[in-house]
Amino acid sequence: MKLTISGLSRTYKDKAAIDDVSAELTAGVYGLVGPNGAGKTTLMRMLADVLKPSQGTIQLDDEDIRFMDYRYRELIGYLPQDCEFYSYFTANRFLKYVSALKGLNEKHAKGKIDDLLRLVNLSKEKHKKIGSFSGGMKRRLGIAQALLNDPKVLILDEPTSGLDPKERVRFRNLLSDISEDRIVILSTHIISDIEYIAKEVLVLKEGKLIIQETPEKILHELNDKVWHVTVPAHEINLLEQRFTVGNLMRKGKEVEARIISETKPLPTAVVQTPRLEDIYLYYFGESLDEYDEEMEAFK
Ligand SMILES: Nc1ncnc2c1ncn2[C@@H]1O[C@H](COP(=O)(O)OP(=O)(O)OP(=O)(O)O)[C@@H](O)[C@H]1O
Ligand SMILES: [Mg+2]
Repeated sequence: MKLTISGLSRTYKDKAAIDDVSAELTAGVYGLVGPNGAGKTTLMRMLADVLKPSQGTIQLDDEDIRFMDYRYRELIGYLPQDCEFYSYFTANRFLKYVSALKGLNEKHAKGKIDDLLRLVNLSKEKHKKIGSFSGGMKRRLGIAQALLNDPKVLILDEPTSGLDPKERVRFRNLLSDISEDRIVILSTHIISDIEYIAKEVLVLKEGKLIIQETPEKILHELNDKVWHVTVPAHEINLLEQRFTVGNLMRKGKEVEARIISETKPLPTAVVQTPRLEDIYLYYFGESLDEYDEEMEAFK
């Protein structure tokens, strides 16, 4: 099974939210990352066939999804970023309702609903009204509804937002269990969500796909570029002007910082083992500086 994205663009007025994106996805987990406004949701909505591309195509096993129509929608599961629920429905009634919409056999759906509620740790809440759910519980119910039809392509837009650390771990395990024979695309701002389960990481920047790589390759790229430095607190501005600085930690009169630099930034700097979350600093640290400069120019 393969999902082929070719020259995909989506513009709003004259702004490209997704700009000429091409990628090939096969079974496994793909982590979609990028700052707010990078285009993650726009890309996922097109993959879920709820938003028409301005240009380009999406193909499943060489067939354009536009022509597959309902045959495609039957194969996919989608969790939107802002998944709304009827608050007066119980979890069970909601999942029954979605099963009916997806055309699932009622008897089959019944068993499936129980399985899924167990999977997302909501069995006890089966007959509770969604209106009484916490944000994280609603998110978990959203994940369950996306899985109802046993989708071959699973599209999850920030599935872990609002989940507590324990539920995050549970979600990661769930994904690695089910991703063997399906394509899973999930967007997140929390890199640790995808660190150990993503086959590849897709990095979006201003609508463009700038990286599609395995975590190992990305980490390799970051080798010898991540540093730990300790400087007097008053020198931190200087440091920030010269380097891409993340994770500041104040320790009395000194500040410790994680820095991205191609060369040793200070004689006392100690090289660090890169972590996947350093990609944010590496790929977006610079653009944030440019942004600051633009803002300065405005003042
Ligand atoms: N319906 C719309 N009308 C106009 N512009 C839109 C619309 N939807 C998205 N955009 C713009 O497209 C760009 C990409 O938005 P998108 O929601 O895809 O980003 P995102 O990566 O999902 O961000 P976030 O991390 O905040 O969820 C943004 O500049 C956004 O303002
Ligand atoms: Mg989004």
